[in-house]
Amino acid sequence: MEQRKGLRLILFPMPLQGHLNPMLELANLLHHKGFSITIIHTQFNSLNPSTYPHFTFHSIPVALSQAEASTSDILAECLARLLSDNHEPVTCLISDLLFHFTQPVAESLKLPRILLRISAAFSFVAYAAFPLLLEKGYLPIQDSRLEEPVIELPPLKIKDLPVLKTMDPEKYYELVSGLKKETEASHGIIFNTFEDLEGSSLATIRQEFNIPIFPIGPFHKCFPAASSSSSSSSSLLSQDQSCIRWLNSQAPKSVIYVSFGSIAAISEAQFLEMAWGLANSNQPFLWVIRPGLVHGSEWLEPLPSGFLEALNGRAHIVKWAPQKEVLAHPAVGVFWNHNGWNSPLESICEGVPMICMPCLSDQMANARCVSDVWKVGLQLEHGIKRGEIERTVRKIMVEKEGEEIRERIFQLMEKANVCIKQGGSSYQSLEGLVKHILSLEK
Ligand code: UDX
Repeated sequence: MEQRKGLRLILFPMPLQGHLNPMLELANLLHHKGFSITIIHTQFNSLNPSTYPHFTFHSIPVALSQAEASTSDILAECLARLLSDNHEPVTCLISDLLFHFTQPVAESLKLPRILLRISAAFSFVAYAAFPLLLEKGYLPIQDSRLEEPVIELPPLKIKDLPVLKTMDPEKYYELVSGLKKETEASHGIIFNTFEDLEGSSLATIRQEFNIPIFPIGPFHKCFPAASSSSSSSSSLLSQDQSCIRWLNSQAPKSVIYVSFGSIAAISEAQFLEMAWGLANSNQPFLWVIRPGLVHGSEWLEPLPSGFLEALNGRAHIVKWAPQKEVLAHPAVGVFWNHNGWNSPLESICEGVPMICMPCLSDQMANARCVSDVWKVGLQLEHGIKRGEIERTVRKIMVEKEGEEIRERIFQLMEKANVCIKQGGSSYQSLEGLVKHILSLEK
């Protein structure tokens, strides 16, 4: 732990699991570097301050769905109070990159603002290319062109573009184009990625954005002792530790770990194909079935009666798992996930090959990197069908293709370990970030 710098940073995470975890890990890293940390969190999905006694917390009465104008006002009021009250000078605000309304608020208070991009650099490049994609006619996406390549963003296919089907397309394009301007007005972007993983996307971003870029990931590996406790303390659902006991009784590299993060949802028909695909694979599996994962169901009701009993202990189902511990367990052989960015990054850090089933927004671009760029996983390209699931599991767990995938992800894992050590790219970038923050202090 470095000496306290007498300077305070205010961090404002987006209140969703995949955004909270990296922001809190970043907070731990910066605290370790000597900064004092204040977290502004919303009443929606609020954090438990007692699990972070070394931080100061301020809760603001904001719901995720609340109109931006009122959120901006509430944030501005909170920040103004913190700026006037604090006996330690506040050096800057670090906010989630998607919280674009923080730009005018910070500007009005003359508070420097640095952004945290919690997802990959590559999907960020794809978002930044939206004006070009619109001009070239890739957007709006036409169903007849889904398999065509996006020449300007190899190896993306049109179906991989980070669109949000739940939002009106025109409004979405406007929002994404706005994000570029608001990002350019910031004092820099912190990425939870590393040079050896995404060097070329980071280079593109450096070329296109005239602001400092800090790839300092993987955050949770920079500082394992603090972050394993931080991932359970920032967990919104309680992590079921029975998984670890169950994994202890399984053979090395035999288990399929299945989890789709905190947001993705699937249909009942897809759920049943998954269940049969897993059952027919003959491998043991640990399946996180989050309440709400299956549209229209509370939890396990769609499973045929007797399904689990017939598997004789080969399956273990929980509502939420201690994911990082699970991935680090020697019994886990493959991670079937939805490619929310934290999941593939955590999987790479433990050298666990992946089966990819992206559901929305950046997840398709992340999955394309996993399967086609780093070649450390296979995609279920033709939807969720029990036969394809069985075949894909076999390819990864039994066949030569799987061995090659395992070898490649093992090499990436080594690179992830090296980049955070003294002299490594993320280590140096973190040093650069600290210097940059100190230079903002007038
Ligand atoms: C969201 C978006 O959906 C995704 O597109 C974006 O890239 C990141 O934010 P989410 O869907 O929740 O992410 O998935 P993911 O990025 O994998 O983050 C989930 C986090 O919860 C991970 O840190 C994971 O370790 C943790 N987790 C997940 C658990 O602790 N237990 C679980 O059972 C599942």
